Amino acid sequence: MNSSQSTGPDYNIDTVAVHAGRPARTPDGPINPPIVTSSTLHAGGQYGYGRQWNETLAALEEVIGSLEGGTATVYSSGMAAANAVFDIVPMGGVIVASSHSYAAVGTRLEELAANGRIVLRYADVTDQADIEKQIAGDGKSADLVWFESPTNPLLEICDIRAAAHVAHAVGALLAIDNTFMTPARQQPLVLGADIVMHSVTKGLAGHSDLLMGAVVTASPELGEQMVGRRILLGAVPSSFDAFLAIRGIRTLSVRIDRSEDNAKILAQRLVNHPAVSKVYYPGLASHPNHEVHAQQASGPGLMISFLAGNSAEDADKVCESTLLATNATSLGGVESLIERRRRWSHENVEVPQNLIRLSVGIENVEDLWADLDQALDQI
Ligand SMILES: Cc1ncc(COP(=O)(O)O)c(C=O)c1O
Repeated sequence: MNSSQSTGPDYNIDTVAVHAGRPARTPDGPINPPIVTSSTLHAGGQYGYGRQWNETLAALEEVIGSLEGGTATVYSSGMAAANAVFDIVPMGGVIVASSHSYAAVGTRLEELAANGRIVLRYADVTDQADIEKQIAGDGKSADLVWFESPTNPLLEICDIRAAAHVAHAVGALLAIDNTFMTPARQQPLVLGADIVMHSVTKGLAGHSDLLMGAVVTASPELGEQMVGRRILLGAVPSSFDAFLAIRGIRTLSVRIDRSEDNAKILAQRLVNHPAVSKVYYPGLASHPNHEVHAQQASGPGLMISFLAGNSAEDADKVCESTLLATNATSLGGVESLIERRRRWSHENVEVPQNLIRLSVGIENVEDLWADLDQALDQI
């Protein structure tokens, strides 16, 4: 089934990304896991059917589980993975979420609350007192705490160790959406979280060519529950996509290193550009939670948000004027993507209209800057 097997306890994450999930070394055997296309399995075994288990999915689960240090289960999108976690919350249970979550997650949580399925409370992830207040509640404490760090798209930072402490004090599970960081930069289970969720679509797979999600749990028992959610909710990814995701993860470390190097340079240059009034990037010393982030992550990552000009029209003009960075949603691919987040009607209204989110790719940084600079000069 899903696997938490590591290639070795002491290997660096760069090495684990390359070696985890490979078949046993046998003469003339393949060095890569096969793409297995079979909805059903011969009777007499442990699993029997494709929603339960598939050899290619299991290899990917071993890779992701090894990278995060837990038991991984993959789903057909990040949203499917998030919904699988929400589904283990008891009827009427309390979910405390980041006040600024990824927009579709925020919308889904609002929907679950409106239907009476859950009670929803928001916490400012940068404010420990607010986290404590919202988790403890007024008589009804949290069952699940769902935080992003950094948050999408405001790049706010939560002290994950402190949040785990508060959640565990009331018996709640702490889930961290680690999509922005990837395990190459942050491993929430090591910091005390119970659950890590990924939109594998993004930095893990890294090539903007598939949709997939993953949940990684600290406990194998919780991992069994997550497989149960896949079996009953049915959001099973294809083995072709699992193959692509494994192939993408093999280069995770070098992609993140290069994108992050580029992002550090671009963030600093954006700070100094006259058309930019604010830059949100945890790698800048001016970021309010720069220190907290540095204590729990090994780098600031590849996501930058910034305010361009004074209006939605100004920001749109910038996104429409870049020739390299592509005006499209999503993130974490080898190619730079740029978008004005409030173009989506479901984006949080506290996100400024002129906020641009930039996912920095692995292109040459001077080419990227020349492109951004000329686009900013249009306003
Ligand atoms: C932080 C974050 N979480 C979850 C998701 C949802 O993932 P998917 O698009 O794979 O369903 C996204 C997608 O943009 C995201 O950015």
